[in-house]
Amino acid sequence: MQELPPGAPATLGEAFGLINATTHPGVDVLKVMVLVEAAGKRLYEDLADQVADPAVKALLCHNGREELAHAHRVARAIGALTGSDYPVPAPEANPYLANPVPAKPVTVEMLNGLAAAEFGGEALYEKWATTIGNAEAAALFRLNGAEESQHGARLQQAAALLAA
Ligand SMILES: [Fe+2]
Ligand SMILES: [Fe+2]
Repeated sequence: MQELPPGAPATLGEAFGLINATTHPGVDVLKVMVLVEAAGKRLYEDLADQVADPAVKALLCHNGREELAHAHRVARAIGALTGSDYPVPAPEANPYLANPVPAKPVTVEMLNGLAAAEFGGEALYEKWATTIGNAEAAALFRLNGAEESQHGARLQQAAALLAA
C-alpha cells in the first residue's frame, strides 16, 4: 500500500472535499490529487459495471481511463515543481481504494449530477493553473481541465441514453 502524504485526509470522500476547497495547491494537496484521480478509474469502472447498455458503459470507461491519465499528469506536475515525480499507485496499492464505499446507483439524475462535478473539475484545474506559478505544471493542469469538461459532456450523453 502506498503511504498517504503527510496530513492527507484518511478517506476518499474527505480527499474530494479538500481538493474542491483548495485554490492554491501545495505539493501535499497535489499528491492527494494523484491518488484521487487514480482512484477515479476504479470509480468509473464500478459505475460501468452497473449498466447493461454498452454505449453507456463505454462512455463511463472512457472517462475512467482519462482519470488515470490525469493522475500521471499531476504526478509529472509534482516532478516539475520538486524535481521528482510522485508515484501513481496501482488500484490495489491506492490507500483511497482500501475501504471502498459502494458505488451510487446509476440514474439519470446521478449522471447529470456527476456531469456538473466534472465541469467543476475543469474550473478547479483552471484555478490551479493560474495559481501554481510553474508553466509546465499549469499546462498539465489545463490538459486535465479540458478533459474534465469532456467528461461532463460524456456523462450528459450517458444520461440521455439512459433516459431514452
Ligand atoms: Fe480527472
Ligand atoms: Fe473527470
